[in-house]
Amino acid sequence: MRRAWAAVWRFVELWSWVAVHSCKELWQWAVPRCAAALRRARLRAPFAPALREAIRLRFEATTREDPLTGARLWSPRGRTHIFAMATGVLITVVAAAVVLAVSAFSGPSGDSLAARAPSSTVATVSPPPNTILTSDFEDGSAQDWVAGAGAKIKGTTAAAHTGRHSLQVTRRGNGQQGAWHNLQGKLSPDAGYTLTTWVRLTGNGPATSLRMTVSWGWASAVQDDVVATVEANGATWARLEAQYSPVTAVDLLSVRVEPAGGAADFLLDDFTVTQHAPPPRSVPALREIFAGSFDVGAAISTQQATGPEADLVKRQFGSVTPTAAMKWTATEPRPGEFTFGDSDKIVNFATSNGMKIRGHTLVWHNQTPDWVFTDDNGQPMTPTPQNKALLLARMSDHIRTLVERYRGKITAWDVVNEVINDDGTLRQSRWYQIAGLDYIRTAFTVAHAADPAAKLCINDVNLTGPSRRDAMYDLVADLLAEGVPVDCIGSQTHVNISVPSPAALAASIEKFAKLGVDQQITEMDMSVYTDNTSSYPTVPPGLLAQQAAQYKALFAVLLRYRDQISSVTFWGVADNQTWLSTYPIPRVDAPLLFGTDLAPKPAFWAIVANPG
Ligand code: XIL
Repeated sequence: MRRAWAAVWRFVELWSWVAVHSCKELWQWAVPRCAAALRRARLRAPFAPALREAIRLRFEATTREDPLTGARLWSPRGRTHIFAMATGVLITVVAAAVVLAVSAFSGPSGDSLAARAPSSTVATVSPPPNTILTSDFEDGSAQDWVAGAGAKIKGTTAAAHTGRHSLQVTRRGNGQQGAWHNLQGKLSPDAGYTLTTWVRLTGNGPATSLRMTVSWGWASAVQDDVVATVEANGATWARLEAQYSPVTAVDLLSVRVEPAGGAADFLLDDFTVTQHAPPPRSVPALREIFAGSFDVGAAISTQQATGPEADLVKRQFGSVTPTAAMKWTATEPRPGEFTFGDSDKIVNFATSNGMKIRGHTLVWHNQTPDWVFTDDNGQPMTPTPQNKALLLARMSDHIRTLVERYRGKITAWDVVNEVINDDGTLRQSRWYQIAGLDYIRTAFTVAHAADPAAKLCINDVNLTGPSRRDAMYDLVADLLAEGVPVDCIGSQTHVNISVPSPAALAASIEKFAKLGVDQQITEMDMSVYTDNTSSYPTVPPGLLAQQAAQYKALFAVLLRYRDQISSVTFWGVADNQTWLSTYPIPRVDAPLLFGTDLAPKPAFWAIVANPG
């Protein structure tokens, strides 16, 4: 830059000189103005007098005094001078332009600086224009990096990829981690990023793998993704580089660099994060992601078997359950009068799209018409042997008709639903009051005879609560001992963003595993409320983050016990239609993996990322 200024200065000097030699009047006029202009341009004080002196000497050398008038006239030598000076001006202008262009466009190259690094004092690499974060450690500090467990970090001049400083990561001892950089709030799910850094071992020990890991998620559910690995040694710098695009808004996001194993000390330098357009992202399908673990299904209404929700169901789910279409009120509203319009629609939708079907539900205390419990005299049934026989006959007929109709198409049936209370006692439903446990025994026996291949489930709510869980265990153990064909325990899994704990879910799965029966998650959804009274006008984003964490944590348990669990069904498709918008009170809830716009929510991304 200094050279450029010198060239410009020479040009100004010569221009002034030419001007005063061209016209005496101009000379009178120009000098004070030139001086003022130079002052305005804040040129240094000694400069203006020096210029004036130079011009005066030139002026006197190239003019002579007219002896008659006393005026100053050009000497012949002066004309030659003017021509020479004009040529000089031209050459200076061209030279100045070249100097300026060279100093403006020739940044020092990274490679050459790397080679000279130890002796260089001013070297820096100009980051690409879309760079949003850099750490060059040239101020000698660790900048935005912190030490991971067991590690020590500090700025060092021991070696540098560029400049004089890098970050030294040492004394890792038994520590598993290296250096961390917090990225929370700096990356957006709407963009793509390139994360780059350079690494080198400090000593001349054996080469070892260094890796870059992005850690993301929510307080109780953090996911580590190793995004780049490189073989590093003590002689040359190696580059760790990764493309990364956050899948969703998260509470925790950081990147760390560390050896893939062992405790080698290393150097890190020139970390950059550049931003670019997000990569085209296809939404993965739950049915494929969990294919090796369990079927993933959704409960649907007949309306959801057409239109955009049907498209979403076809893409995402491998199994469907009718929300209401197979309940007793829908299929046999009057004695012996069966209506299968709605249930057929759902069965046809599923079979024509290669999906499995869970039948729900043959015997329940809700959504069962009153006529079922009315005796032949039109009176509510009392617990008499005649009424018991009549009730079991009606039930058997109902079960046989449904199960035979869909034999070979429905892979699993919820045979009886919600037969146990929260405190572990048997629910005093009209079924139980009139027929005792025989209604359960008969229901399974008749269903099995109607379709021996279908899996028959006893389905209940809140099976993570110890009382109901243990009562279910005892009941199924007794039924199995009697030879009742119970194939599976269905756990509804209507949960919320803080209950149950993953440990409670694991405990119930482990307990039922001892019975040797299949387990199915039959009605999973997750309220954003933890009580029956609160209500938000719109669901706060923080709760969707908490929901993502809870879904991730519970799914981690389901995956851990994948050998026990054959299917996981969500009670709905997307938040635009959920039974929780009216139960337990009318309120906005958002319990599913897809939003009201049918787009994947944080909870979706939380469970599909590295499902294990
Ligand atoms: C719910 C449906 O989702 C609602 O549309 C209907 O009005 C009531 O039943 N446990 C069950 C399901 O076993 O059958 C219930 O489904 C939700 C609770």
